[in-house]
Amino acid sequence: MKIFDYMEKYAYEHLIFFHDATTGLKGITCIHSTKLGPSLGGTRLWNYKNEDEAIEDVLRLAKGMTLKSAAAGLDLGGGKTVLIGDPSEVKSEAYFRAFGRFVETLNGRYITAEDVNTSTADMAHVAKETSHVKGLRDKSGDPSPMTAYGVYQAIRASAFKAFGNNSLKDKRISVQGLGQVGTFLTEFLHKEGAKLIVSDINQSRVDNIVSKYGATAVAIDTIYDQDVDIFAPCGLGAVINDDTINRLKCKVVAGAANNVLKEDVHGEMLKQKGIVYAPDYVANAGGVINITFENENSYDKEAALKATDEIYDRILRIFEVADKENITTHKAAEKMALDRIEKISKIHSIYIKPDFE
Ligand SMILES: NC(=O)c1ccc[n+]([C@@H]2O[C@H](COP(=O)([O-])OP(=O)(O)OC[C@H]3O[C@@H](n4cnc5c(N)ncnc54)[C@H](O)[C@@H]3O)[C@@H](O)[C@H]2O)c1
Repeated sequence: MKIFDYMEKYAYEHLIFFHDATTGLKGITCIHSTKLGPSLGGTRLWNYKNEDEAIEDVLRLAKGMTLKSAAAGLDLGGGKTVLIGDPSEVKSEAYFRAFGRFVETLNGRYITAEDVNTSTADMAHVAKETSHVKGLRDKSGDPSPMTAYGVYQAIRASAFKAFGNNSLKDKRISVQGLGQVGTFLTEFLHKEGAKLIVSDINQSRVDNIVSKYGATAVAIDTIYDQDVDIFAPCGLGAVINDDTINRLKCKVVAGAANNVLKEDVHGEMLKQKGIVYAPDYVANAGGVINITFENENSYDKEAALKATDEIYDRILRIFEVADKENITTHKAAEKMALDRIEKISKIHSIYIKPDFE
């Protein structure tokens, strides 16, 4: 990849490499955009095959955060960090404190949080060295319950579009992936009387949901073939692809998984099949919305829930724009997010004297 060409093409601001020889810390932070506010994005720890793979991942994820925050109406830009290493070997207090010291050098242009293979406990170490970290245990904590709540609102809005009402009672809903988000989501769906069909590579997670909610368990690869009203992918990305799309019998795809469409063309294919698709980063924004209700010393859960409720109306607006302009819901969401960035960054063009001058 020609990095500068790529950064220019997609308007990236900053790509930073950092390391600490004592702890083995090796990472890359990408700040895609700070047009709407400080960039926010979690820290992913992954045993990347090589540095190029890590660079590609951090660039892609940071840009995704810009769109997610913009679409959610937040005053935040998009950023991300990837740490390169084997989670079972590298993690320690010193490792995360060394990372925290690096985050502090960015002086608030980047705010971090937990992500794949990092936890609220790890972020507590980061917080000893910087205040630019969110989702701490004694504040908003694990974002997954709020993410699941937002996905539940996206499913209700999508049901309204597909079936003419938002009731999920007796709707057959398949949930792929019963991790943090999938497990909370099944609770919301069960409470509303949905009939659950579930799969996970982890059998104990499946057994748990079957025994708690009377869900039907299906084999991993058969989840796409189920005769369901709604499919909620909550495991991996890229599951809507050439192999799966013609097997789907549902009328709605709405879930938590990031980058659920393998490519843009798969959004077009869903549209042609008459399947309502709730864009992933709009549906799964509850976690990032939640973080913004965390202040220096407090967290307002009621306000966070209310703001996450708005995902329902936001998804309906995206459907309206998509219909009006005859574009996919995926494109409509992107267009609305980019329009907001464009408009708000223009009002920021007037100089205002900062306090410290
Ligand atoms: N946690 C959040 O707040 C949050 C926020 C936004 C987006 N997301 C996205 O939502 C998805 C789920 O997040 P999570 O935090 O629940 O992750 P998780 O790792 O806790 O859960 C993922 C689950 O998917 C299962 N899985 C993996 N491959 C599978 C397969 N082929 N078939 C069925 N199940 C499979 C795993 O065993 C695991 O139980 C991810 O794509 C994540 O990026 C999560």
